[in-house]
Amino acid sequence: MSVIDAAMEYAEKLFRDNAGGHDAAHTLRVYRNAMRIEESEAACDRELVALGALLHDADDHKLFHTEQNENARSFLRAQGVKEERIERICQVINAVSFSQNRGKRPDTLEGKIVQDADRLDAVGAVGIARAFAYGGEHGRPPEATIRHFYEKLLLLKDEMNTEAAKKTAERRHRFMEEFLREYFAETEEPPREDA
Ligand code: ADP
Ligand code: NI
Repeated sequence: MSVIDAAMEYAEKLFRDNAGGHDAAHTLRVYRNAMRIEESEAACDRELVALGALLHDADDHKLFHTEQNENARSFLRAQGVKEERIERICQVINAVSFSQNRGKRPDTLEGKIVQDADRLDAVGAVGIARAFAYGGEHGRPPEATIRHFYEKLLLLKDEMNTEAAKKTAERRHRFMEEFLREYFAETEEPPREDA
């Protein structure tokens, strides 16, 4: 089994009990997004992108009480990946997080791609679904989640690093705007009973 296939299996196991925004399906979508972006970027280390994407949430502080990429490192070590390579993969992973790196762009192309791939999963139809799932998990009503669109989701299209992600983000952005228009139309002007 390739290390990439093993990382997919590892992610499935690791996120098995997480129903919210960081389930295994999120990791697999980020991986697929990353592979698609990578195809349009020249001179890129494809395996580094793949492993960075598949392990990007493996030590997320909101989910795991690990320090210094312990989960990612021990998985990679067990796969026989060399220490030097593990360092590079962790560098990609640590450059990705939105909350930890507000405003800072990753130094490497591979980091930029995985960051874009993760952010793409927060916008569009899937981003809408995840936002309401997150709100529900935290006991918030839909109106409270709508605020998150203005605080984060609608800002993401201007923060993409790569051209390919920018294009996809713009399409997904328009879909969110359309969703919000419809949402406000339905909630602010309830149809009359006798209409
Ligand atoms: P990251 O993957 O960068 O760590 P987060 O953990 O902040 O991102 O978010 C995971 C998912 O939950 C995303 O889809 C995000 O939009 C959503 N989310 C985060 N905070 C909120 C919030 N306050 N309200 C609604 N959705 C949220
Ligand atoms: Ni993520």
